[in-house]
Amino acid sequence: MVVETVVVALWAMLPAYVPNNAAVLFGGGPPLDGGRQWRGWRLLGDGKTWQGTAVGIATGVALGIVLDAAQPALVAATGVGLPGFPLGVTVALAAGAMLGDVLASFLKRRTGRRRGASFPVLDQLDFVVVALAIVAIVAPAWFGEVFLSEPLRLVVVILATPLLHLGTNAGAYLLGLKEEPY
Ligand code: CTP
Ligand code: MG
Repeated sequence: MVVETVVVALWAMLPAYVPNNAAVLFGGGPPLDGGRQWRGWRLLGDGKTWQGTAVGIATGVALGIVLDAAQPALVAATGVGLPGFPLGVTVALAAGAMLGDVLASFLKRRTGRRRGASFPVLDQLDFVVVALAIVAIVAPAWFGEVFLSEPLRLVVVILATPLLHLGTNAGAYLLGLKEEPY
């Protein structure tokens, strides 16, 4: 059923969805790159901080732990085959999401984009693509069961994530939490 495919796909990515938003809310302080430059441009820039990265990963992991605890009851109540989140999976998804964001920042600086500049497609997909790649490496059995057994779920993630991301970012912008609406 289509609804079930969408629900399972988005549920499985929830620990990768929250880290970026938590970083926007709670980031700040010293940058990851320590202010270093590379080839005339900042390595990453002031938008990627230790605090934002740590809080982002911690928030994603905390959510994964809560979802894993709730999963049996939710499956029993709804009959939807929601996957659980072993700790390794949760950490891979949350850390992968933050790593994707950092790699995108690195690419932005290499392509002459200033902090906060938009990089369409990359901005919307960096965190899910890297989170999926890391979880596929760290927890291949979970990745196989959840995504390879039903590849349509991967399609859902790739198509729905940009919409969700643009929606939450526009919301954060309107609330004055974020400087750009993308
Ligand atoms: N943030 C952070 N640490 C991170 C990611 C984000 O502290 N690892 C915070 C920063 O305050 C950042 C804001 O969240 O400015 C928005 O994040 P994002 O849009 O990803 O960063 P940008 O400022 O746009 O920087 P860049 O151009 O390098 O992506
Ligand atoms: Mg930005």
